[in-house]
Amino acid sequence: MSGEGLTARGLTAGYAGRVIVEDVTFSVARGEVLALLGHNGAGKSTLLRALFGLLPGRRGQVSVAGRSLDGLPPRGVLAAGLAYVPQERSVFPRLTVAENLRMGAYSLTDRGVLAQRMEAALDLFPRLRERRDQLAGTMSGGEQRMLEVARTLLLDPAAVMLDEPSIGLSPQMARSVFDVIRALADGGRAVLLVEQSVTRALAVSDRALVLEMGRTVLEDRASALAEDDRLAQLYMGAAGKAFGSPGR
Ligand SMILES: Nc1ncnc2c1ncn2[C@@H]1O[C@H](COP(=O)(O)OP(=O)(O)O)[C@@H](O)[C@H]1O
Ligand SMILES: [Mg+2]
Repeated sequence: MSGEGLTARGLTAGYAGRVIVEDVTFSVARGEVLALLGHNGAGKSTLLRALFGLLPGRRGQVSVAGRSLDGLPPRGVLAAGLAYVPQERSVFPRLTVAENLRMGAYSLTDRGVLAQRMEAALDLFPRLRERRDQLAGTMSGGEQRMLEVARTLLLDPAAVMLDEPSIGLSPQMARSVFDVIRALADGGRAVLLVEQSVTRALAVSDRALVLEMGRTVLEDRASALAEDDRLAQLYMGAAGKAFGSPGR
């Protein structure tokens, strides 16, 4: 499946006049996962916030499913078909799984469609189906992450952005999250994935883009990047610095 997913052209954004992300251009088709890689502080989260309409003063063009998102607030962005799972936990801990899912569909008035989407989301997440009436706050971190992803599906988004969805999860739970991410794309959505682990990211993605200091420094097919010395250099060079390697 393919088609117009998420596109950004010349995207420039930041905070209070400080430019963080500069002139970034990319597109993710439906059916595709694009990994957004880069060191801590490279501007990955800022880029997602800018796409979602959270940063005033953004420049450039963003569109989803062929519709321009320029000037839209987050509510409008969601309604246009772009979903966002931020890095911070965002489930309502005192609501049940089913209630949390319904919160994802606040703007849906058709009960039939709501029921249908709810079932479709639960089909993708059998663990959540088993816990349908459990309070979200009593579930494991991985299960809460699943719920955050499932909740985005209630509005049937054309594109989904996830900011480090596997952070803090057990390797097994992280694997389930990546399986779901792949399934989202295979089901015809465009997926933009921010991920710290380069290996895991490349394994689940079709293409990847590397940000450094808010600019794109590499972009290629995931399989090509996995073999690309430039990627290894970017990461190994910084790892040496990060750990204060004396370079002996
Ligand atoms: N809310 C904020 N206000 C001001 N500066 C911020 C804010 N969030 C992040 N920054 C700055 O933006 C830069 C990029 O951060 P971020 O987008 O979080 O990077 P990444 O997600 O790649 O680790 C950093 O220099 C960070 O200090
Ligand atoms: Mg971040």
